Amino acid sequence: MTATDFLDRRAGSQDKGPATWGWRGAVRRLSGGMISPRMGPAEVAYEQDRSLIQKDFDGPRTIAFINPKGGAAKTTGVLAAGYTFGTVRGGGVVAWDNNETRGTLGIRGTRSTHRNTTRELLEDLERFSDVYQSRIGDLGAFVRSQGDAHFDVLASDERPDVTGMIKAQDFDAVHRLLERFYRVILVDTGNNMRAENWLAAAEAADLLVVTSTVREDTGYSGLWMLDALQDAGYQNLKYKTVTVLSDPSAQVDTRLADDLVDVYQQRTRGVYRVPYDPALVAGSVVPYSQLSGNTRMQWLKACAGMAAAL
Ligand SMILES: Nc1ncnc2c1ncn2[C@@H]1O[C@H](COP(=O)(O)OP(=O)(O)O)[C@@H](O)[C@H]1O
Ligand SMILES: [Mg+2]
Repeated sequence: MTATDFLDRRAGSQDKGPATWGWRGAVRRLSGGMISPRMGPAEVAYEQDRSLIQKDFDGPRTIAFINPKGGAAKTTGVLAAGYTFGTVRGGGVVAWDNNETRGTLGIRGTRSTHRNTTRELLEDLERFSDVYQSRIGDLGAFVRSQGDAHFDVLASDERPDVTGMIKAQDFDAVHRLLERFYRVILVDTGNNMRAENWLAAAEAADLLVVTSTVREDTGYSGLWMLDALQDAGYQNLKYKTVTVLSDPSAQVDTRLADDLVDVYQQRTRGVYRVPYDPALVAGSVVPYSQLSGNTRMQWLKACAGMAAAL
């Protein structure tokens, strides 16, 4: 056995893929990797998706999740993508609630001992102005660790009297800071395309993810938004955008789903469908460990599509 074969075998024995790769996986596991049948097509695709998500970027990458309609699964999508990028890459990921008003990322993510948000971070930005002295650990006073999901959440202002809008320059200051400490920055957005911080996020993003549920109004809003970005002269829009379509219930209108896939395929570089998941319905803290196997698998595909575009 050559040194390379040895390393390949070691890598194979660390395979953490679903225990459902049929007889091949069983033989590999039971023989402790001594007998390693060739991977089936599903397993090959799974490994390729993981590798894509794990790829080294030559700088920090920002992905903004957008749709001007509420309930389009933007916040849910940011958390599912945070979980996927975080666990597959092993950290280096932040999910930032850039809502122009009070967003829900903070209450859907795992809580922390502090209640600090973007607002408090902005008030304390000076603490990070010396690039030689400031440390990622200092950000722990503002972000909320998602534990085993291996990513952090930076919530939006949670005070009931919130009035101040986030200015474009505030967005840029926080974004520059996050770029210093994270490799993947997932930006949740609100429902007002004219808000300064919405526009700043769309401008700063390396990739846009249009989220929609399989509903006519939500699907239409996403298309209307793409038209508006196109009219505003946004460059390379199709090349810079992917679509994630979520099922809003256990049964979906398959004709509508097909129509949405078709139209978004024309407008964006790829369309990924993610299932309805009872673990996500309550709209409370996302129980990452209770997400269904299919939810994880489809988000893996979606995030691989995102990584491929970066
Ligand atoms: N895949 C899904 N399965 C089940 N429920 C979902 C799913 N995606 C989203 N939801 C539900 O839809 C609600 C609205 O989604 P949310 O992500 O808050 O939308 P937005 O951020 O676009 O306003 C969530 O509270 C959640 O209960
Ligand atoms: Mg939201």
